[in-house]
Amino acid sequence: MIVVQKHGAVGWIVFNQPAKRNALSNAMWRGIPEAMRQFDADREVRCVAFRGAGNQAFSAGADISEFEQIRAQKASVAEYDDLLDRVLHSIQDSRKPSLAMIYGYCLGGGLEIALACDLRYCGQSAQFGIPAAKLGLGYNVEGHKRLLETVGHARARETMFLGRRYSAQEALQIGLVHEVFADADLESRVADILSTLAGNAPLSIANSKTVFEEYVKSRGEPDEKAMHAALSRCANSRDYQEGRRAFMEKRKPAFKGE
Ligand code: COA
Repeated sequence: MIVVQKHGAVGWIVFNQPAKRNALSNAMWRGIPEAMRQFDADREVRCVAFRGAGNQAFSAGADISEFEQIRAQKASVAEYDDLLDRVLHSIQDSRKPSLAMIYGYCLGGGLEIALACDLRYCGQSAQFGIPAAKLGLGYNVEGHKRLLETVGHARARETMFLGRRYSAQEALQIGLVHEVFADADLESRVADILSTLAGNAPLSIANSKTVFEEYVKSRGEPDEKAMHAALSRCANSRDYQEGRRAFMEKRKPAFKGE
């Protein structure tokens, strides 16, 4: 489940499934747009922050144990991706600034949410990656765009094609996070940053955010159909079935490209 809390001017969304490294279940994904709506409508909330429960993980991504049931058929995969798009847009399109505070694992959908946030700060324990190619999974279109905008072509390809894991320091180097703190200092340093965000002029921030988001949207005319076709080719593939089963059976997947 997610825990939605207000601490003064900060709206917190906490991923709370520690036994699974805060993997995001379908119900958790669904809770996010609703929480964002609530925070958007609340004048006392000046910024939104995301974290995982405990300090082992921000989130290890979507909950793979649910995939067989709700993310296995082409139609249900498309539905899942629509949900993810709604989640990312609810964060990106909010006029309020958002921040991800990251301990430990920040993988797949977890990183996707962190990338949808305006700011990312992590502890030294943080590890980042998008292991879609290790699962035969088609990674969400919006998530790809955000990754590319954040780290550029070279690193985005490395992240996706190799399914490579980055340490906190490497993440800092490639621009995935803004700053790395000692784990013991992360909460207090983030509290200072949130307090600055909350004290700055909301309309000035909203102005900048609107321009940044609209500018990104207006660049080029991507072939949405081609992007979604590539994504949906993964959805029905044997490799995707193999990838999620191999994860659950704790073995290495054997991919065939079909
Ligand atoms: N979905 C469902 N369950 C997950 C999960 C996920 N994304 N990530 C971790 N878990 C579960 C594990 O299955 C394990 O469950 P178990 O205790 O019943 O065996 C538990 O969380 C702890 O994970 P474990 O692998 O034992 O811990 P670890 O510290 O050695 O490794 C990770 C942690 C995150 C590196 C590893 O679990 C992992 O690679 N997870 C998958 C990440 C991923 O592919 N995310 C993208 C999803 S789209």
